[in-house]
Amino acid sequence: MDSQEIAWWQHGIVYQIYPRSFQDSNGDGIGDLAGIIQRLDYVRDLGVNAVWLSPIYPSPMADFGYDVADYTGIHSLFGDMADFDRLLAETHRRGLKLILDLVPNHSSNQHPWFLESRRSRDNPRRDWYFWRDPAPDGGPPNNWLSVFGGPAWTFDETTGQYYLHQFAREQPELNYRNPEVLAAMQAVMRFWLDKGIDGFRVDVIEFILKDEQLRDEPENPDWDGVDPHGRLKHIHTRDLPGVHDLIREFRGVVDAYPERVMIGEVFQFDETIVSYYGAGGGGCHLPFNFRLIYRDWSAPSVREAVASYEAALGSEHWPNWVLGNHDQHRIATRVGFEQARVAMLLLLTLRGTPTVYYGDEIGMEDVSIPPERIQDPAALNQPAVAHIFGRDPERTPMQWDDSPNAGFCPPAMTPWLPLAEDFRQRNVARQDADPDSMLNLFRRVTALRQGEPALYRGTYREISLGEADAGVLGYLREAPGARRFLVLLNFAAHPWQLDLAALGAGAEVRVASHGGREGPVALNNLALGADEGLVLALD
Ligand code: GLC
Repeated sequence: MDSQEIAWWQHGIVYQIYPRSFQDSNGDGIGDLAGIIQRLDYVRDLGVNAVWLSPIYPSPMADFGYDVADYTGIHSLFGDMADFDRLLAETHRRGLKLILDLVPNHSSNQHPWFLESRRSRDNPRRDWYFWRDPAPDGGPPNNWLSVFGGPAWTFDETTGQYYLHQFAREQPELNYRNPEVLAAMQAVMRFWLDKGIDGFRVDVIEFILKDEQLRDEPENPDWDGVDPHGRLKHIHTRDLPGVHDLIREFRGVVDAYPERVMIGEVFQFDETIVSYYGAGGGGCHLPFNFRLIYRDWSAPSVREAVASYEAALGSEHWPNWVLGNHDQHRIATRVGFEQARVAMLLLLTLRGTPTVYYGDEIGMEDVSIPPERIQDPAALNQPAVAHIFGRDPERTPMQWDDSPNAGFCPPAMTPWLPLAEDFRQRNVARQDADPDSMLNLFRRVTALRQGEPALYRGTYREISLGEADAGVLGYLREAPGARRFLVLLNFAAHPWQLDLAALGAGAEVRVASHGGREGPVALNNLALGADEGLVLALD
């Protein structure tokens, strides 16, 4: 079997671009499509296979594009449809795929559908959203909470009813129990698929069906007392059994086109994730697997995360791994700059499709945002926990070089979010010139992965390292007839001496997290440095 026999999205590496922050081409301090086109050679040379763009549609930007006012247009901030067509063509010309973000759970409150819906109680689109009378005391119809703080209902004077929104109040939820809504969203999908995009990342896919009776949610006995939204158990707003029927309807649209992918955003950390592949594989090709994000960063914890996920999937479902995105604190901030290299080796050598967040390949860190520049609704609505749930810090401009504004936008402009203070030290140009940089490490490991069947489609087998299991994760990647690989990742800040004679006499270091180690090594007495990761080809 060679790479032709698995789908591109199984073989491939997905690179997420947050369009506002990648490259500004028109000097307004906000990234745009023409800017992305300018940087496509860089993306291709990373050795990734697909680009996923966070939303680029017309939007009042209450949630930075996740509040869509027109599902089949392009926001003027980002360009126009001609720019999009050019981006798609240029992406494909480089052998890359293009994945768009589909946000079906809610629209903007400025979407014509909602503007109509709110007009009167008998408007034909009234039932496209959730409208309910106030509770007897005049308050919201039930106790549901918004992820961004406060109740999930907002009162609308026009008709004296509340509407539902599980995110910002500017993001009213669409009602998929009305078949017209599903049909409208399927038409949106066809619009983009007909243009030739290669798939969708579907936003909060497990939220799209709500309890028909809108029953109150129970208190969460395991609440950590920190996340206001976590106070309730979301048994009536998330992961309802019927959601899989709806997902199958979305997937049906995707399947009418060859070689497309559907990735779903789900927050499931146990075997429930398997249900999102759908019965008979009719769900998401890849339900995002976020378990590395919500874990302690230690060898035992990561070992268990991989083992439980692998066991749940079996050989039937294709795995995927994510270390960061536009909603999560940067990996380099969470685990430190040294461990970020280990994390990248892990992401790119586990079994399954990796998704990489822009800037993580150079070890970008969270940027602390002065209070007056905070923009994210999750932070603005919840000042007490803004430092935990605010998402601006991980959305800052890409650090291209050491010129003013890091090459992201013209020197005289103020970028929409502040740049990292250390961008003069940590940027693409500088790392490009340094063979031991994180960027060149990233390129080395993607290059290796792309050419080695054991790495892109082989099995995963955990190995036991005795005492060192406390600090080191070791695993084999194997495919019939292909070169075998051993991956050793030291999560600890101290070295180990390993005896791996059981795996053979010799091996060759093919990629090392820190420079100068490539070449043959003896397996019976292998030194693994502090914070070191090695990818070894076995004899
Ligand atoms: C998803 C997106 C996030 C957005 C939310 C509401 O979680 O990743 O950025 O705020 O959905 O659309």
